[in-house]
Amino acid sequence: MLPPMAIVRPEQPGDDDAIAAILRAAFNDDSEADLVERLRGSESWVPELSIVVQQEDQLVAYALLSRVTAGEANALALGPVAVLPDHQGGRLGGALVRMALDRARSLHFDCAIAIGPPRFLESCGFEPATAHGVTTQVRLPQDAFRIFQLQPGVIPEGPVLWPDEWSDS
Ligand SMILES: CC(C)(COP(=O)(O)OP(=O)(O)OC[C@H]1O[C@@H](n2cnc3c(N)ncnc32)[C@H](O)[C@@H]1OP(=O)(O)O)[C@@H](O)C(=O)NCCC(=O)NCCS
Repeated sequence: MLPPMAIVRPEQPGDDDAIAAILRAAFNDDSEADLVERLRGSESWVPELSIVVQQEDQLVAYALLSRVTAGEANALALGPVAVLPDHQGGRLGGALVRMALDRARSLHFDCAIAIGPPRFLESCGFEPATAHGVTTQVRLPQDAFRIFQLQPGVIPEGPVLWPDEWSDS
C-alpha cells in the first residue's frame, strides 16, 4: 500500500535529475542512472511506464518497464526499480511494481521479464522464467530470472534479448 499523500504517476519533463538521484542513492553508484539515460533516448522507451512515486514535493521511488525482445511476445523488461534508502522496507517498492504492471497490462503488453532479488520479485508476483520454458543467452542465477504474465497464457517462445542500451560497453 502507498503511504498517505503519495501519488504514482509517469515521469514528467524535469523529473530526470530526481530520478537519477533516487537511482544513485539506492544502488550506490551511477550505473542504473546511466542505464535509464540510455534507454530514455531509445526505441525501447515507453513513456507511460517510466513511473515515479511522489510524496508531497519529493520523488521517493522509481520503476521502469521498457521493451525487450522475447519471441513474438509483446514483452517488457522491469528495471531498474529503486526506493530512496530512508523509505525502503515499507512496502513501497512492491506497491509501485504492481501498479506499473497494471499499467502495462492496460497497454496490452503480454509479459514482463525481470532479473533481480528473487524474494522481492516473488512478492510482486513474478515467477521463475525457466519454469515456464523461457530462455535467455545471458548467464544468470536461474532463480533471479523471472517472468510476470500480463495476459494469461502468453509465454515467449524465443529467447529474451535485451537491447544494446542495457550494455554499458
Ligand atoms: C529492492 C527495493 C526496490 C524494494 O523496495 P522496498 O519498498 O524496500 O521493498 P518492500 O518493502 O516492498 O518489500 C517487499 C518484499 O521484498 C523483500 N525485499 C525487499 N528488498 C529486497 C532485496 N534487496 N532482496 C531480497 N528481498 C527484498 C522484502 O523483504 C519483502 O519481502 P516479504 O514480502 O517476504 O516480507 C528497494 O529496497 C531498493 O531500492 N533497493 C535498492 C535497489 C535494488 O536492489 N533494486 C533491485 C530491485 S529489482
